[in-house]
Amino acid sequence: MGFVVAIDGTSGSGKSTTAKKVSELLDWLYLDTGATYRAVAYFVLQKGINPNDERKVIQILDELNIEIKKINGEQRTIVNGEDVSDKLRTEQVNRAVTPVSKIKEVRKYLVGIQRKIVDDKNAVIEGRDIGTVVFPDADIKFFMDADISIRAKRRKQQDGMNDLEKVKKDLERRDYHDSKRKESPLKKADDASLLDTSSLTIDEQVNIVVAKIKKLHEGVNSI
Ligand code: DC
Repeated sequence: MGFVVAIDGTSGSGKSTTAKKVSELLDWLYLDTGATYRAVAYFVLQKGINPNDERKVIQILDELNIEIKKINGEQRTIVNGEDVSDKLRTEQVNRAVTPVSKIKEVRKYLVGIQRKIVDDKNAVIEGRDIGTVVFPDADIKFFMDADISIRAKRRKQQDGMNDLEKVKKDLERRDYHDSKRKESPLKKADDASLLDTSSLTIDEQVNIVVAKIKKLHEGVNSI
């Protein structure tokens, strides 16, 4: 059985960057589960389907094949053979991913894919429901959050957007929907360590996470 590190948290809290760096240091599998939700949203838009039309969204899951591959050290998301990784962070996908990720059948389908990718490997997995639903028995769990203004600045930089207020509004909208939805809402698992990253650098976040993993996992000598 692999060692599973679950990192959940709000958008822009630093979980992606931290999870990626931790996985690189440990040479463990990294999985960004948000990319799988974005892949469904992208496919729904490509098919011209309204992301709020649950019945149609569920129907097209049969036509969808999502693969996650590591290419040149980067997680790439492949939808029906096409590498769509660079098309998943647009405003349209940001909007469409919210209704799509509320659908029970979509979540069931993606959780199956996520568990299959991890299999029994040592892995660092990030998302919204990793410690609560996907891997409730994860060896170690973190919940990352930060002040909304700081998260907006980080996201603006990361996604190359230019309107800070717009980025902040989008984060607030997604925070609200992610935490209020019925299916697998964003919430801290009882046994997760809370990490407020408002005043932490990425290196500090990585060091905290790695130190906690090392304490639990003696075999980690390569750092
Ligand atoms: O991490 P991200 O911003 O790329 O995620 C995009 C959206 O996908 C997020 O707003 C909610 C959804 N998501 C989810 O519902 N469950 C996950 N485990 C990961 C993401």
